[in-house]
Amino acid sequence: MSLKIQTLNNISARGLDRLPRDLYEVASEMSEPDAIILRSANMHNMDIPASVRAIGRAGAGVNNIPLDKMTERGVPVFNAPGANANAVKELVLSGMLLSARNILGAWKYVEELTSTGEDLKKEVEAGKKKFKGVELPGRTLGVIGLGAVGVNVANAAQALGMAVSGFDPGITINNAWRLSAGVAEALSVDDLMSGSEFVSLHVPLVDGTRGLVNADRLKLMPKGAVLLNFSRAEIVDEDAVLESLAEGHLKYYVCDFPSEKLRGHERVITLPHLGASTDEAEDNSAIMIADQLRDWLEVGNIRNS
Ligand code: MLT
Repeated sequence: MSLKIQTLNNISARGLDRLPRDLYEVASEMSEPDAIILRSANMHNMDIPASVRAIGRAGAGVNNIPLDKMTERGVPVFNAPGANANAVKELVLSGMLLSARNILGAWKYVEELTSTGEDLKKEVEAGKKKFKGVELPGRTLGVIGLGAVGVNVANAAQALGMAVSGFDPGITINNAWRLSAGVAEALSVDDLMSGSEFVSLHVPLVDGTRGLVNADRLKLMPKGAVLLNFSRAEIVDEDAVLESLAEGHLKYYVCDFPSEKLRGHERVITLPHLGASTDEAEDNSAIMIADQLRDWLEVGNIRNS
């Protein structure tokens, strides 16, 4: 008898290939699946069939899954921590560079120039002044959340010459896996934010992190600071961000989520949740999930839940 796996999103074929077809039936629509694999689909309002014995999230965050309901039913929820850490790290670094060098504003400026000859030269000169940036070495980065992504970001920023501090609500710097030496430990979120010109968020969305970055905390950051949110939109109070940008306190808000409130703001960079959208990260996450589901469904082992 084959095991039935329902996929709620497009899941990488490399991952699904780990489920041998003589043992598994994999489809996006099916009745009475044994397990569900998903990426960003929202399961909170879904009728989850009683047949489901496991859920696999091909990504790190599990806020799109009703964990309480699944715990009551005794259904393990697997995720893929670390599988997309490099992909997210690369996008965070891009965000830091885009904001430090005002790249998007400068690009738009040049795109909209219509003059020619000497006038064009003058406008180019004006652009050089208007979009003058800063360099990263010696600047301070605070990383909130020292899981796989946060640690990757901290290490990469150190390699770029930044002074990095970290804070995690659950673990100390000494316990953060593979964190390179030299990352300073902040005592609290407030402590970290007050000493960081760049702050990057890498915590999951849970009750304690919703609205973590609010108006009071934004005020703690040095004037001209940049906030990067590649975790979840709800971790940051967007009204407070708009206020801080308007006051000229926050220089940029870079976030990996579209937002109706923030759309069109010249110092906000929003992306369509691209952090984990690389070939490699999609493969890694799907492989990690398929392997965990096999362990559970075939042998009853839990590697991570
Ligand atoms: C994650 O939680 O790792 C991301 O949301 C993954 C994704 O974009 O699917």
